[in-house]
Amino acid sequence: MASDTLTITDNRTGKQYEVPVTDDTIRATDLRQIKVAADDFGMMTYDPAFMNTAACRSAITFIDGDKGILRYRGYPIEQIADQASFLEVAYLLSAGELPTRAELDVWEHDIRFHTYVHTNIIKFLEGFRYDAHPMGMLLGAVGALSTFYPDAKDVHDPRNRYVQKVRLMAKLPTIASFCFRHSRGLPYEFPRNDLDYIGNFVNMTFSIGGKHEPNPVLQRALEILLILHADHEQNCSTSAVRAVGSSGVDPFSAVSAGIAALYGPLHGGANEAVLRMLDEIGTKDRIPAFIEAVKNGGDRLMGFGHRVYKSYDPRAKLIKQVAYDVFEQTGLNPKLEIALELERIALEDEYFIGRKLYPNVDFYSGLIYQAMGYPTDYFTVLFALGRLPGWLAQWEEMITDKEQKIARPRQIYTGKDERDFVPLVMRK
Ligand code: CMC
Repeated sequence: MASDTLTITDNRTGKQYEVPVTDDTIRATDLRQIKVAADDFGMMTYDPAFMNTAACRSAITFIDGDKGILRYRGYPIEQIADQASFLEVAYLLSAGELPTRAELDVWEHDIRFHTYVHTNIIKFLEGFRYDAHPMGMLLGAVGALSTFYPDAKDVHDPRNRYVQKVRLMAKLPTIASFCFRHSRGLPYEFPRNDLDYIGNFVNMTFSIGGKHEPNPVLQRALEILLILHADHEQNCSTSAVRAVGSSGVDPFSAVSAGIAALYGPLHGGANEAVLRMLDEIGTKDRIPAFIEAVKNGGDRLMGFGHRVYKSYDPRAKLIKQVAYDVFEQTGLNPKLEIALELERIALEDEYFIGRKLYPNVDFYSGLIYQAMGYPTDYFTVLFALGRLPGWLAQWEEMITDKEQKIARPRQIYTGKDERDFVPLVMRK
């Protein structure tokens, strides 16, 4: 009968080892018994960028990259984007189940009444230069929040974790809108507890003289975009939150590490990079030359490709629909024509087909954000607002996982062997 084990023969010694296989996976530490000599450290695996290493067991998000499937807690992203509110999704990701009406009421109420930030946070933000990148401001301010809530250090108390999750969910939109207004020299607009989560954020961002006329289509479009970004299993920023959080630090500090990771152009910063790329291309007739430059390795087609999705990114498909709803309200973003043509050419080109490169979530999101009135350097902040529920759910899953320890990868040392120190006067 077949057994759930893997037999390994070490040809250096001729010895055989049998290691258990669970969920198509072997434990890397089971390899440590494989040694040439008794005082060997034992065999390790080498996996730069974690291309094939599961760092945790997780019940939050399921992705099948070959089939283009994304599910939160088992629910297909298409159904969630169509029917759920962002706060329902945030609850689902953390709690594991959709909330009842009563549970959702409590969750919404708790978040609504934590939206204010200490006024010293305003002083803190005022210290940034007028042209500070909003992602730099956001990660600094969220890190600073940890100093306002020293009680957040008690990460092993479930009630305490709930309070910190509520605080982060409630305050991130407030801080994000303050970052927006800072770069425009506008006075900060304070939260309004009579508005819902999205309405309050949009109001704090765009209100002038206390007035803002809400557009329900644009608000729902923004909500769908946040939902589509809410979690994506062990991506770069989530891994950062988990790794930093594994040291036992408070969630404000861990989330601020996630924001830092998201900032990069290969991750959340790609939505900003797409717009800069479209600006650089400028006109449709320059697309073929740009594609050639990409193929020659001079450039990357930003908003294309994904570590996991190899047929299509289901979020990109949904976002394209949202784009048309938004453009009906705002008028067509003139860059859409260039993006559509870029996509058409790339999808017919052997370079992109062979490498399974398709538009990802960031290819169209920037065009939508721009049409809604957000500046290019603000797009990744919107991504962060969307990803926060995922970071929090993954952070809590890590904290409560008995198998987890402080994240601490191994290395293969490639440096010099031991040698004697040379005093400065004797160095050539
Ligand atoms: N344009 C041109 N070539 C590309 C691209 C691209 N966007 N992405 C990958 N390739 C090529 C790459 O040069 C390599 O070619 P070769 O085999 O000849 O060396 C091959 O495809 C495999 O690429 P890779 O860099 O090994 O793939 P990866 O899994 O390490 O990278 C990625 C994934 C998303 C970082 C990458 O596709 C990329 O840089 N895309 C552009 C940035 C982007 O849009 N990022 C947003 C990702 S979705 C939002 C999020 O979750 O953050």
